[in-house]
Amino acid sequence: MNPQTRVLSGIQPSGQLHIGNYFGMMKPMIEWQEKSDLFCFIVNLHALTTVFDARTLAGNTLSAAADFLALGLDPEKATFWVQGDVPQHTELTWILTNVTSMGLLERCHAYKDKVAQGLTPNHGLFAYPVLMAADILLYQANLVPVGRDQKQHVEVARDIAGSFNHLYGETFVLPEPLIDEQLATIPGLDGRKMSKSYENALDIFIPREELKSRVMAIVTDTRAVSDIKDPDNCNLFALYRLFSAAEELEELRGRYLKPGLKYSEVKKELIDRIWSHFAPHREKRAALLKEPDTLHDILSAGAAKARVQAEATMARVRRAVGLDHSRRRG
Ligand code: ADP
Ligand code: TRP
Repeated sequence: MNPQTRVLSGIQPSGQLHIGNYFGMMKPMIEWQEKSDLFCFIVNLHALTTVFDARTLAGNTLSAAADFLALGLDPEKATFWVQGDVPQHTELTWILTNVTSMGLLERCHAYKDKVAQGLTPNHGLFAYPVLMAADILLYQANLVPVGRDQKQHVEVARDIAGSFNHLYGETFVLPEPLIDEQLATIPGLDGRKMSKSYENALDIFIPREELKSRVMAIVTDTRAVSDIKDPDNCNLFALYRLFSAAEELEELRGRYLKPGLKYSEVKKELIDRIWSHFAPHREKRAALLKEPDTLHDILSAGAAKARVQAEATMARVRRAVGLDHSRRRG
């Protein structure tokens, strides 16, 4: 990977972050800071589509930022900020809205799924992919790592960039989605995709007692202790995999394939593994939350850094569309 390649992605502060978010998004993003020009942000404007309580949104935003920093995101290596602190995101959204067809947005699965689930859509939910396009295009990002469910939104951003460039001249880099096919979907306690909306999640920084009761509630099949078990169709095994080295996993596989394995024993081991995996990060997070001023300073420095890039793009965009009326165009 060329270290100049600009990699960009964001995460919504719509609840406490869970280990699906960690392995699926945060960990790979933190790795990107070593090999690319990384832009990583907390998308609080997107969360406005579903969170309608100011304290909750503000609290989740700070908590998500502290999580990222505690887990290893280095604001010296990456540009790390809160979306709403850079007003150019909303400014570009409006401009892009006018080169986005209704049909393009009507075809978006995420929107259609929410409507099918019975949610009464607001315009924000419908226009969500345009804000996401602005996020990406504002920074001229080359690669956008996302989960499979967001691939279409990156393709929409690419379409919008293409329409804009066609209409007003080359302005935006065409971004590409980056889906890590190796990264399996992390299962939740019930075996479905781990998601805060299914209430099957294990939060990264959950208190120990809660971790215990959540892990003990992981759904397993009804095979008896004396039966041979099936590691490849067991979500307990799939979660254990995330917290163990290859040899340890092989050892567990061996135990599954012999009579005598108790799921409750595996669950107890998993609790210890999860707890110790995040222990150093837990301390760092507590320290950050104890010093809110430091956290705010990091975020405002990040927003200042992001704004420089965002403004450079916006100056070109305003000129291209004719909003920059102070200059006569030749
Ligand atoms: P949730 O489903 O809990 O609302 P989001 O949709 O906000 O989570 O996901 C934020 C990021 O975390 C996305 O990049 C998504 O791909 C990743 N992610 C969320 N859940 C999982 C999961 N179970 N496995 C892998 N990645 C996940
Ligand atoms: N919509 C993404 C999600 O829910 C979050 C997001 C917002 C994003 N803006 C982005 C991801 C820009 C990548 C690039 O997961």
